[in-house]
Amino acid sequence: MLRYFTAGESHGEALVAFLSGLPAGLKVDQGLVDRELWRRQQGYGRGGRMKIERDTAHILSGVRHGMTIGSPISLTIENRDWKNWQESLPVSEGDPERHKRVGSPRPGHADLAGALKYNFPEARYVLERASARESAARVAAGAIAKMFLRELGIEVLSHVIAVGEAAIKNNAPWEQIYGLYGQEEILLNCADPEVQQLMKAEVDKIYKTGDSLGGVFEVVAHGVPPGLGTYAQWDERLDALLAAAVMSLQAVKAVEIGSGIEAATSPGSAVHDEIGYGEKASFTAFTRASNNAGGIEGGVSNGEEIRVRGYLKPISTLRRPLQSVDFSTRQPVSAAYERSDVCVVPAAGVAAEAMVALTLARCALEKFGGDSMVETLRNFEGYRQQLENY
Ligand SMILES: Cc1cc2nc3c(=O)[nH]c(=O)nc-3n(C[C@H](O)[C@H](O)[C@H](O)COP(=O)(O)O)c2cc1C
Repeated sequence: MLRYFTAGESHGEALVAFLSGLPAGLKVDQGLVDRELWRRQQGYGRGGRMKIERDTAHILSGVRHGMTIGSPISLTIENRDWKNWQESLPVSEGDPERHKRVGSPRPGHADLAGALKYNFPEARYVLERASARESAARVAAGAIAKMFLRELGIEVLSHVIAVGEAAIKNNAPWEQIYGLYGQEEILLNCADPEVQQLMKAEVDKIYKTGDSLGGVFEVVAHGVPPGLGTYAQWDERLDALLAAAVMSLQAVKAVEIGSGIEAATSPGSAVHDEIGYGEKASFTAFTRASNNAGGIEGGVSNGEEIRVRGYLKPISTLRRPLQSVDFSTRQPVSAAYERSDVCVVPAAGVAAEAMVALTLARCALEKFGGDSMVETLRNFEGYRQQLENY
């Protein structure tokens, strides 16, 4: 079974990711891991931290001579800001005078809920772990999951559908989304250049007011065979697994599969994807007139593109802070402000790609098994034949 964990604090020495359960013999390209980490750091509306850091993954175990060896993969991503935090966040007792308190909880962040839960007098340790810096570790693990999926012909990418009020009207086709991957400068990762300019204007407008902005990203998985996930048990449904995976990302407050939200207020005839039969397209000769289901029916992939959307709330750290209460005096004060992003929809999309890739890799391994890539690919080929002969 594919499992993964992360560790590390936002201003600690490093982030750590563990990934266990991949077959032996998978080629691992470290350059691709770093490319994904770079993509997560991009986007118009990011804060100052992205300018001082360029993330790179340091693989410690599980990969030798450029291949997985079947043992757990562990990796670290250094926090380059650590040098400025060693004295205020030491592992040893340190000097309490150097501690950087977060004295007034930010509405919308984990500060107050976390401080109450862990019995902290202020919120420093809470935000150190709740912060989306953690998602860099997931992106690194997800990059390796993507390499595994690529061996099966599956690609996972994202694009931005909406930032504030600016939104694309039509579904972007795969080719356009794929075209965004090669960009050397990522603005808002929107497939429509005109709408992207509108999105940029939204960020500019909100920046001037000291406020923040949310939006919607869409992750698309291309080349997924029918048959991943199952309706047989509630916690094995692919839609449920994807929803949890994407919802687990910081600031994601709603997840949609296909056009699920619009479907709720539309008649069935306008929603369900009519079935045809013709020339063999990918895995079978069954065809669909549309893909409102987002590639999943009954918790099972149906052979169409998987489309998962994440709805991001606006960032909770505001330059023009909201009302809060001082942890010590209980008097009304402005919420704490610490260097922050203003809009992170493209970056959240990249982190969601990682979560979707890890989920699909887990389901693919459950279906095809295998301790080596030779075995996994043989099983996959056998299934492909079975579909072809269906
Ligand atoms: C890529 C990314 C970057 C983020 N950057 C910030 C940030 O700079 N400041 C901030 O207050 N929240 C940021 N967030 C959101 C918070 O991490 C998140 O709102 C907080 O942890 C509370 O969790 P919740 O929103 O899921 O309830 C970011 C989220 C993502 C996905």
